[in-house]
Amino acid sequence: MKTVTLIYGDGIGKEVIAAAKAVVEATGADIAWEIQEAGAEAAEKYGQPIDDKVIESIAKNGVALKGPTATPIGKGFRSVNVEIRKRLDLYVNLRPLRSFQGVDCLYPDLNLTIVRENTEGLYTGIEQQVTPDHAEATKIITRGASERIVEYAFQYAQKMGKKKVTAIHKANIMKLTDGLFLNCAKEVAAKYNDIQFNDKIIDAACMDLVLNPASYDVLVAPNLYGDILSDLASALVGGLGVAPGANIGKNAAVFEAVHGSAPDIAGKDLANPTSAILSAAMMLKHLGYSQAGEKVEAAVAQAFAHGEKTVDLGGNLGCKAFTEAVIKYI
Ligand code: NAI
Repeated sequence: MKTVTLIYGDGIGKEVIAAAKAVVEATGADIAWEIQEAGAEAAEKYGQPIDDKVIESIAKNGVALKGPTATPIGKGFRSVNVEIRKRLDLYVNLRPLRSFQGVDCLYPDLNLTIVRENTEGLYTGIEQQVTPDHAEATKIITRGASERIVEYAFQYAQKMGKKKVTAIHKANIMKLTDGLFLNCAKEVAAKYNDIQFNDKIIDAACMDLVLNPASYDVLVAPNLYGDILSDLASALVGGLGVAPGANIGKNAAVFEAVHGSAPDIAGKDLANPTSAILSAAMMLKHLGYSQAGEKVEAAVAQAFAHGEKTVDLGGNLGCKAFTEAVIKYI
């Protein structure tokens, strides 16, 4: 039996994580859940959005399934996600995106993966108000973090039979920081003769991804670019409702959808649980329950192929009814 830390989070987190939990349980995988609270609702209840015991639980179990946690904009506490990722050194943010038959989208045969650096870049939280009219943020790029994320991207490409890795940067403007990232990427790429490598400037990559996404396979990017590209690329395959993800480190992994707490639809049974369900399928595979993970992915694909869809995808099912459909195919 494996114990997994379960964090419902805020907003639609309660709905989509309940859905993912039910689907995992339907596979029969032997999992015990250790429930922990984090996010804006936890902050209201306990005075802080995340407690040490949440981090300790994830560190002890090595695996968590997490719902989205809300972060106040322009004020208030720091992101729970940044805290978890930094404290547990979850340096990889892995976001595989694929289209499904039955889901209307721009590119019906798309399959690409974004590998986002998760610990530094512009997400260090080091900011200062120099004067009331002048604020600064510190962007940190290190050789160590750049090399290990690009290594991960190439190893992932090899493992998954992918053909190409593209490094995303803005080294024409940020010559030192993004320049270092790009140089590290080139050096690591030279060791992998079996995988093609190229690089692309972030703005050009955004346009190219929309017009010509089939020319990408695995994209590796510093933190902010990877974050933006993930939402953009999710729109190519049906939107944030179908975009799973994982934060992976040497000793722990936290599985969570790309989307946020979606306060506009929270509590209305309108959330698409697919991203959370597919994140849970990634978790099952990570835990060694590969067949259960594949069963979940196949059940989601079957549900879509039979026209069972949530409202965001043009269907008429609520979160609960769609979850029941997936469980039916399991
Ligand atoms: P969001 O991802 O929550 O929502 C963006 C839009 O997509 C909304 O219109 C929402 O209704 C829709 N959407 C998102 N997930 C959906 C789903 N599963 N099914 C159907 N529609 C879905 O982004 P937003 O509004 O910018 O952020 C809301 C809060 O979430 C913020 O406090 C933000 O900090 C937090 N957030 C948390 C993340 C995490 O915990 N990993 C990731 C992104 C945002």
